[in-house]
Amino acid sequence: MTAPLTTRVLRADAEAIAEAARVLHAGGLVAFPTETVYGLGADAGNGEAVARLYAAKGRPSFNPLIAHVADPSAARKLAEFDTAAAERLAAAFWPGPLTLVLPKSAPCPVADLATAGLDSIALRVPTHRVAQDILRSFKGALVAPSANRSGHVSPTTAAHVLADLGGRIDLIIDGGPTQLGIESTIVACLGGSPALLRPGGVSRQAIEHVLQQKLREAPKTGAATDAPRAPGMLASHYAPRTPLRLDVRRVEPDEALLAFGPTLAEGAERAAKVLNLSVLSDLGQAAANLFSHLRALDTAGASAIAAMPIPHEGLGEAINDRLRRAAAPR
Ligand code: TXA
Ligand code: MG
Repeated sequence: MTAPLTTRVLRADAEAIAEAARVLHAGGLVAFPTETVYGLGADAGNGEAVARLYAAKGRPSFNPLIAHVADPSAARKLAEFDTAAAERLAAAFWPGPLTLVLPKSAPCPVADLATAGLDSIALRVPTHRVAQDILRSFKGALVAPSANRSGHVSPTTAAHVLADLGGRIDLIIDGGPTQLGIESTIVACLGGSPALLRPGGVSRQAIEHVLQQKLREAPKTGAATDAPRAPGMLASHYAPRTPLRLDVRRVEPDEALLAFGPTLAEGAERAAKVLNLSVLSDLGQAAANLFSHLRALDTAGASAIAAMPIPHEGLGEAINDRLRRAAAPR
């Protein structure tokens, strides 16, 4: 590792946005809020900046990055919108928490390292005002993975980013907690029927409604070695350090409880710590709380984090996906 950087944290005002654009143009790394989670941005066209980004995250370089742009017309310069599905999804959900994987345009200004040598590219148009302002001020595409160390839970506040990446990146733009709290939904439109690669902030039902068609499932892998076919599907990911136990109806005294809904699991009164994702069983609220609650329970010194069952509908699919990955053996 190189010498530690001084990581500055700036409140998201006009001056901070201009500074973010300057640092990015100089090849630096800037974390900023999006409506889903905080992203760690780098100039998508600058291979060296992208290499520094992988190093800062400790991310395997076969795991490609999402290119973020300010509007759909900028997206069209990076990828082929050659299917009706891609057109429909972009029209319905951009700007917003949907990422489209499309054939890369030729030539494409995004560094090959950012797409891990694939001939497809993941694109997203965030709606968050601060992300929009930075993209417009930078005037180009930014690759931005979630701003956490590889394998840790995604950050939903500037403090989470600082805890994970302090000393490893140049700047954090603090725009307060993110609204959705869970990453974007990723859909691949690469010919054939569109496939759901990652459930996220836009529900499967909403997408299928727009497409008037069922989404295909992504090939299940879990092995780092078939990265080129389905990157980002590493089974163990988004993980707290404390082991996670799922679908818990009875919590042990030395465990911390990740609760959901008005009725707590049996034994909750003796748990080491209890945090409720949503007392009212609201899945949107649960998604927004997921990563910060996991982080907080991770510091409770418990033998395990016991998670109550979450209904597998709407945003529940994305929440269960993240919980399953966080619980996977490492
Ligand atoms: O909400 C989000 O999407 C956040 C915010 C910051 O925008 N970003 C995010 O990025 O979650 P990241 O890097 O943590 O996750 C991106 C996922 C990875 O699993 C990666 O493998 C997948 O997108 N991906 C990127 N390019 C791909 C491609 N060409 N084909 C398939 N999957 C791809
Ligand atoms: Mg991530």
